[in-house]
Amino acid sequence: MTTSTTTNAASDLPPLTRIFPHPAGDTTIDEAYAVERHPHPDRPWVGLCMVASLDGSIAVDGASGGLGNPNDLEVLLTMRRVADVVIVGSGTVSGEGYGTPASGTRVGVVTNSGSVDTSIDLFRSGAGFVITNERATVEGDVEILRVGDDTVDLVAAVARITEIVPGARHVQAEGGATLNGALFDADLVDELQLTVSPMLVGGSGPRVTSGATEATRGFELAHVLTDADHYLFTRWLRHAG
Ligand SMILES: NC(=O)c1ccc[n+]([C@@H]2O[C@H](COP(=O)([O-])OP(=O)(O)OC[C@H]3O[C@@H](n4cnc5c(N)ncnc54)[C@H](OP(=O)(O)O)[C@@H]3O)[C@@H](O)[C@H]2O)c1
Repeated sequence: MTTSTTTNAASDLPPLTRIFPHPAGDTTIDEAYAVERHPHPDRPWVGLCMVASLDGSIAVDGASGGLGNPNDLEVLLTMRRVADVVIVGSGTVSGEGYGTPASGTRVGVVTNSGSVDTSIDLFRSGAGFVITNERATVEGDVEILRVGDDTVDLVAAVARITEIVPGARHVQAEGGATLNGALFDADLVDELQLTVSPMLVGGSGPRVTSGATEATRGFELAHVLTDADHYLFTRWLRHAG
């Protein structure tokens, strides 16, 4: 492993070392994550960005903030920049207090009930839109993508997200566990960016997926990075076969 003194990004982020693929060496979040992705013929590419503790929890005190570090946050922000559109479950939007994202970022909030607070800055800024079913009532003046009669059809929602974000080729999911479980069930997760936080947290926090049908889906390792805080920044790609 090399000792890096290079700057990791425009801001002063802790230096990053690439452990895999070989050879090991200095790298940046941009170099590792802002890579080309190829959408499917019938739908955009779907990535999922999460941070988890050593014992598999994705939350401390009900939020992810206690698990991350500056490089982990930069991974999330980089993926938002690289993607054409973000999707996130309504529980995460309220629990993590989603506000106005960087200019140009569109965020689709997935809800079956339609019960989303559209008065928050995420929606007032024009960045947020709602992804729900045909029947749900959504209060407020907000863009809505309706897919599925009683429940959101996630496969169709991802395919039709171009109705809200024309030309979208890369959808980036940000959790939480329930939405992840549904994405897993629908076999929509092409890529997982998983930060492993160097701590045991105990408790009964959710895992990366929750509520999904038990199934095994293989992924290939695309990269492992680390920093002086002992975080591991991993990127996994769904097996093509
Ligand atoms: N460590 C991390 O990287 C990370 C990232 C994100 C979140 N988290 C944590 O995850 C926890 C939240 O997870 P969660 O599972 O409670 O919330 P969630 O998945 O963000 O939101 C759950 C809600 O989203 C909607 N939803 C989810 N899947 C849906 C589907 N297939 N179709 C239609 N609507 C769907 C439903 O909304 P309605 O009830 O409105 O129908 C559901 O109740 C929090 O503790 C948060 O901090 C951690």
